[in-house]
Amino acid sequence: MDKKILLSASHLKKRYRVNRRSSVFAVNDVSLDIYNGETLALVGESGCGKSTLARLLTGMVKADEGSVLFEGQNIAVLSDRELRPYRKKMQMVFQDPASSLDPRMKVRDIIAEPLLTWHVYDTPKETTDRVIELLDMVDLGEECLSRYPHQFSGGQRQRIGIARAIALNPSLLICDEAVSALDVCVQAQILNLLKRLKQQMGLTCLFISHDLSVVSFIADRICVMKDGSICEIAPAVQLYSSPAHEYTRFLLSSVPKLIV
Ligand SMILES: Nc1ncnc2c1ncn2[C@@H]1O[C@H](COP(=O)(O)OP(=O)(O)O)[C@@H](O)[C@H]1O
Ligand SMILES: [Mg+2]
Repeated sequence: MDKKILLSASHLKKRYRVNRRSSVFAVNDVSLDIYNGETLALVGESGCGKSTLARLLTGMVKADEGSVLFEGQNIAVLSDRELRPYRKKMQMVFQDPASSLDPRMKVRDIIAEPLLTWHVYDTPKETTDRVIELLDMVDLGEECLSRYPHQFSGGQRQRIGIARAIALNPSLLICDEAVSALDVCVQAQILNLLKRLKQQMGLTCLFISHDLSVVSFIADRICVMKDGSICEIAPAVQLYSSPAHEYTRFLLSSVPKLIV
C-alpha cells in the first residue's frame, strides 16, 4: 500500500427528517482518507450511518455540508451529469444480490451492461470475451453466461455482482454488507475472492460491515462508526490489540475469541 490518498472526505454531514418536528444526523461531521491500494473497513451497528456515508462518498447522496476530494476534484458539488465519469471509477457491491441483479437478465447481459453503457468495446465478441474473463476472475465458468440470477446460490450471485462491479476496472470498490447475508463458510470464500482481486487488480476497497469479526480477515485499517460519527480509525492490528475508544472495546468484547 502506498501512502497516496485516493479519496479524502472532510466534515461530511447528512441529516434526514424523521417527522415534521425532528430529524436525525445519519452522518455527522465525518472526515476520513482512503489510501490507494488499501482495504478500509467501516464498522458499526446497524443504523449508525455506514450506507449513508458510502453514498455520500460516491455522490449518490448529496451532502448537506462537507467535501469529498476524489482524484483532486470535490465531487460533492458536482451535478449528476458531471459526476458520471467519477461514478464509473467507484463501483458498489450490495448486501442482497438477489435484489441488485435484474432477475429477467441473463448473466452475460448483467455483466456486460457497464461495458456497453461506456462503449468499452467495438464488437459483441470482444464484450463477451471480457465477460468470460470477468466470470473467470470470480471463479465462475462460461456455462453461466446464459443463466438467470435465480439459478445461482447466494454466494454465486454475489460473485456475479462482484464481476459486474469490477468490469470497468474501478479505482474504488465499495462493498456494503456484501457478505452479511451469506453463511459463514460462503462468507469466507467471498472474502478470499475480494482479497485476491485486491492483489490482482490493485483495487482500493471500502468494506462495510456491522460485524467486526468479518473484517479482521480483509482490512488494512478499520474505521469504527457510532451514531453518525467516527470513533476511531486505526490499522487493523492496532485496533484489535489496543483499541483506543470505549465503543471499539465494546464491539471487540462481542467478537468470538478464536477470531481475534
Ligand atoms: N433515505 C433516508 N431517509 C430517511 N432516513 C434515512 C435514509 N437513509 C438512512 N436514513 C436514516 O439514517 C440513519 C443511518 O442509516 P444507514 O446509513 O442506512 O445506516 P447503516 O448503513 O449503518 O445501517 C438511520 O437512522 C436511518 O434510518
Ligand atoms: Mg447499511
